[in-house]
Amino acid sequence: MTLWRPAPRIRHDAAPGRWPTAAEAAASRLFQPFAAGPLRLAGRTWVPAMVPWRATAEGFASANVIDWYRRFAAGRPAAIVVEATGVRDVPSGPLLRIGDDRFVPGLAEIVRAVRAASDGETRVLIQLIDFLAIRRRPERARYLAHHLEITAHHRERLNAADADDASVRARLAALDEEALRLVLTPREHEALTFGYRERVTDVHLPHVRDLPQTLPGAFADAAVRARAAGFDGVELHFAHAYTMASFLSATNTRADGYGGSRAGRLRLPLEVYRAVRRAVGAQFAVGCRMLAEECIASGHSVDDAAGFATEFARAGMDFISLSRGGKFDDAAVPKVGEAAYPYTGPSGYECMPSYYSDAHGPFGRNRGASARIRAAIRAAGCATPVVVAGGIHNFEQAEQVLARGEADLVGFARQALADPDWFRKVRAGRGAEVRLCRYTNYCEALDQRHREVTCELWDRLELASAGTQRAADGKRRLLAPEWPDPPDPISGGPDAR
Ligand SMILES: Cc1cc2nc3c(=O)[nH]c(=O)nc-3n(C[C@H](O)[C@H](O)[C@H](O)COP(=O)(O)O)c2cc1C
Ligand code: SF4
Repeated sequence: MTLWRPAPRIRHDAAPGRWPTAAEAAASRLFQPFAAGPLRLAGRTWVPAMVPWRATAEGFASANVIDWYRRFAAGRPAAIVVEATGVRDVPSGPLLRIGDDRFVPGLAEIVRAVRAASDGETRVLIQLIDFLAIRRRPERARYLAHHLEITAHHRERLNAADADDASVRARLAALDEEALRLVLTPREHEALTFGYRERVTDVHLPHVRDLPQTLPGAFADAAVRARAAGFDGVELHFAHAYTMASFLSATNTRADGYGGSRAGRLRLPLEVYRAVRRAVGAQFAVGCRMLAEECIASGHSVDDAAGFATEFARAGMDFISLSRGGKFDDAAVPKVGEAAYPYTGPSGYECMPSYYSDAHGPFGRNRGASARIRAAIRAAGCATPVVVAGGIHNFEQAEQVLARGEADLVGFARQALADPDWFRKVRAGRGAEVRLCRYTNYCEALDQRHREVTCELWDRLELASAGTQRAADGKRRLLAPEWPDPPDPISGGPDAR
């Protein structure tokens, strides 16, 4: 599956801008201490959640996961959000899980590694996620012979009232694509051509109908485990293609009070937040990641998002982190045997924009929406901090985001992956040594194939060095090389003036 790129495909190169001296960095907005509720941050830098595909098959924190976060912490961002971690105790491959107490010791290792590598400076939160079932796109013959449930609808469409299941299946298999599309229901046709995917509107399924009853408790229990593991807070994943964002989505037409109007769509996310807050108290940071815009034709707008964010702020969230897009609704059709991936269509592009872009380019695409949402929160009398991310890679951009009041905290996801030492280097007045992300989305393609995520700028460097951990393919190092002889970031390096 290739990732979508906007026309007219203008190439945009990441620019270093002017790097500050150590003294300028020390006086900058970006490196001033900041409080987000109970979260005491050493600066206003934030590494948003990124799944590295390194957990064990049972969802435990492996040594490679722990090393991954240790490496980020060595660069000393003010905060790191650990990857999306499943709140339910269901198998989900090598993705972290927090749906049972047995996961707590491994997660506590991550926290210890982050504290040790940053001398206690970097705050560490964990992103809590729930997702619905999605299946791989089936092979046509197999789907029609085994997976499709034959119903009266098919018999009626085929004018074969008395035919047994086997003959109905045989007749379906003999149809051409267009004729088959007319006989199947839209959902059946989607299951065949895209792969089956549950939606929050599938209230005929008891476990989907009951999500408003089950999810508040599941998120609250997960948050209690996160606190027990030593995290500084949790980020509720209300963004992208997953369950909670689907409740907020303009496409949520549930008629049980948890869909339809803006208030209805907001109801479960607010109930989840309140259950979490009740469970962990005020001294543990609780915020969410949500979409500034869904970026799909029938999706919610910035105005909707401003309304949601304002209600989250009023309810007492400690921060609101803004992403955009990343939906299944416009995802590319997967190959047979593969599952749809929500970052392959136009909304996916908005979530992780790459260097071939439109006239706006990939840098700071969420800044305008973030500014509007933050202004709405402030107009409602709330001081809740807003985190923005999307293509931010140089100091001048980050400083401008803060100076213009577009956000309170600046997210660097792929830039931190390209160079986890960005924060130390810039603070030390050695920004010229930063390895700038090129926004190629090589890392994203690895994520899509569920392979260990690495960056092409460093994953082949010094492969033969002793102690270099390699990915399962043996061809890539798993962690960015150490920054040789980094100076003390507070007193500054040789360039300090
Ligand atoms: C490999 C990879 C994994 C990601 N995993 C998550 C995730 O678990 N949760 C999440 O909210 N966003 C995830 N994202 C999105 C990033 O947090 C971020 O919003 C996006 O990359 C845009 O920011 P950037 O331009 O600074 O990279 C992921 C991004 C990448 C590249
Ligand atoms: S592979 Fe590296 S350079 Fe390319 S987008 Fe990812 S982090 Fe940036």
